[in-house]
Amino acid sequence: MSKRNIILVGFMGTGKTVTGGVLARRTGMKLVDMDSIIEERRGKTIPEIFAQEGEPAFRILERELVNELSARSGLIVSTGGGIVLNPDNIADFEKSGLVVCLTASPDVIFQRVEKDTNRPLLSGDKRAQISALLEKRHPLYVAIVHGINTDNLTDEQTADRILEMYALESRG
Ligand code: S3P
Repeated sequence: MSKRNIILVGFMGTGKTVTGGVLARRTGMKLVDMDSIIEERRGKTIPEIFAQEGEPAFRILERELVNELSARSGLIVSTGGGIVLNPDNIADFEKSGLVVCLTASPDVIFQRVEKDTNRPLLSGDKRAQISALLEKRHPLYVAIVHGINTDNLTDEQTADRILEMYALESRG
């Protein structure tokens, strides 16, 4: 039987990439970071894609990559924060593995992304952008069955919880 994927979703700054790295190290499964693959294939950074091609074009690239990844197995997938905007993305990922939504409070998110210049949706007033986007997307993130608040957890603790969920799910 092929090994189910673990897919990490959640808002920017909730720890998807770093937790994905811990999970990959601990399970030996391959880590796939969607933003990095898109950047590599496009030969452009995420801010360049947003500026030159626009957000809708980026969402199409994401959608195509979800199709590709959800046909594979044994992966730890770190998604971009906007992956929830298209419900088909979540439906496809749910078929291929365990989807876990990482959450964090707006203050913690702000601290984690404060110095970052790679997130086009947070250019300008970061605090204001975070709260506006979080408000808009909140229903989409809470709709995901498995959720973990990472505010007071180390990356290792977050990974522990995900591995518990994964073991439970594999046992059926
Ligand atoms: C986005 C999140 C980013 C990246 C892009 C758009 C979003 O990924 O995909 O800037 O819409 O929330 P991270 O969540 O890894 O920052």
